[in-house]
Amino acid sequence: MVTSFLDHGQGPAAVSWVEEPTAFDIRSLLTRQELQQPALRQVTLKVAEKGGINLSQGTCILPTPEVVLEGAAEAMRAGENRYSPADGVPRLRRALLTKLRSFNSIPCELGNVAVTSGSTGALESVCRSFLTKGDEVVLFEPSYPYHRNVIERSEKATIKVVPLRAPDWGFDIDEFTRALTPRTKFVLICNPGNPTGKVFSSEELLAIGTACRRRGVLCVTDEVYEYITFDGRPHVSLASLPGMYDHTITIGSYSKTFAITGWRIGYLCAPAGVYHNLRAEADQVYICPPTPAQHGVAKGLEKLAPKYYKDQLESYTRKRKILCDALETAGFAVCRPQGAYYVIASTSSRFPGLTSEEVALDMLIDRAPPGAAIGAVPASDFLGRQVIGDPARSNFLRFCFAMPDEMLEQAAVLLKGLNA
Ligand SMILES: Cc1ncc(COP(=O)(O)O)c(C=O)c1O
Repeated sequence: MVTSFLDHGQGPAAVSWVEEPTAFDIRSLLTRQELQQPALRQVTLKVAEKGGINLSQGTCILPTPEVVLEGAAEAMRAGENRYSPADGVPRLRRALLTKLRSFNSIPCELGNVAVTSGSTGALESVCRSFLTKGDEVVLFEPSYPYHRNVIERSEKATIKVVPLRAPDWGFDIDEFTRALTPRTKFVLICNPGNPTGKVFSSEELLAIGTACRRRGVLCVTDEVYEYITFDGRPHVSLASLPGMYDHTITIGSYSKTFAITGWRIGYLCAPAGVYHNLRAEADQVYICPPTPAQHGVAKGLEKLAPKYYKDQLESYTRKRKILCDALETAGFAVCRPQGAYYVIASTSSRFPGLTSEEVALDMLIDRAPPGAAIGAVPASDFLGRQVIGDPARSNFLRFCFAMPDEMLEQAAVLLKGLNA
């Protein structure tokens, strides 16, 4: 309601008015009243309160290579503190090109490679570029929660899932093929997988790729754990397989490889026909990835010898053993991961009759003595609503082993205490 009319004596142009204050609830303007928090957040808070070891978060807390830190610091001092081109500094794009051609065997050119704000930024660009109302996206499940989040928050596509079955995380190719419909826009493959650690073989990838090509469906692969594949399994990029390059967008990141989750440096490699749309979407949303951080990653790629990646894998192999052995000793049935740095442990044998949330929150935290909580993520964070609560699919926890060995040894002691 207009209650006063002010004229400051500056002529007709200075007309304004003041309205009586009304009750104003800023929250009522939100598009979503409560964003549902994943169980992981709750676990993290509770472990911090109780004291103990948090193996729930996927943040890698290992050291960042010196050259990567130097590269970023040098760039800042040299004045590289401004916006970069939306698809990244040429130095990093060139280094990524070399890596994509040699390590991934992807037949790409410089004009196919863009730096992004983490691989999450790359997926956001993919969703903005390709999804229209009524589309469907196919995911393998259990799946990485942000894959679901980014797709669902586009509010355009619905998700169809193809189950991966423990302990080896195989899938049924007929089930996959049936999931493809005329509305399917893309299939998102996480290889190596979070949370399962599944490493897709060439045969599996070719079967997926062939089914997609026949139906004009795009393939998107998230390969952020590409350097972490165990027991001699090779990492195969779908885009390197015969006939797949033009059907595939590869996304990746240095968050994990260089332990720089906070720097937000990822990349995408896309066929020329769509590259400029993807680049433009990134430009419109976040302008560019952080410039000094791009130089840090470029220096890492230029200077780190193959030994760095080999040593990293050896270190993860050791960590996998420490954690898997500790979980088995504590009575969990463990799926030894084929790749990435997570272990899935079934709760059915150790805590029959309890849901994975009850195990994660009550048994591993609330009932633990002070200082002896263990953080793990319950299955619900990795599953669609339809299967949460189905004991055959949802009685598992995810533990992360991207931690110093001493922390994992300490966790092993705490896990042993569960049997006491
Ligand atoms: C499979 C997978 N993709 C992407 C990410 C996030 O990567 P970025 O930090 O590059 O956005 C994670 C992080 O946990 C992940 O597990």
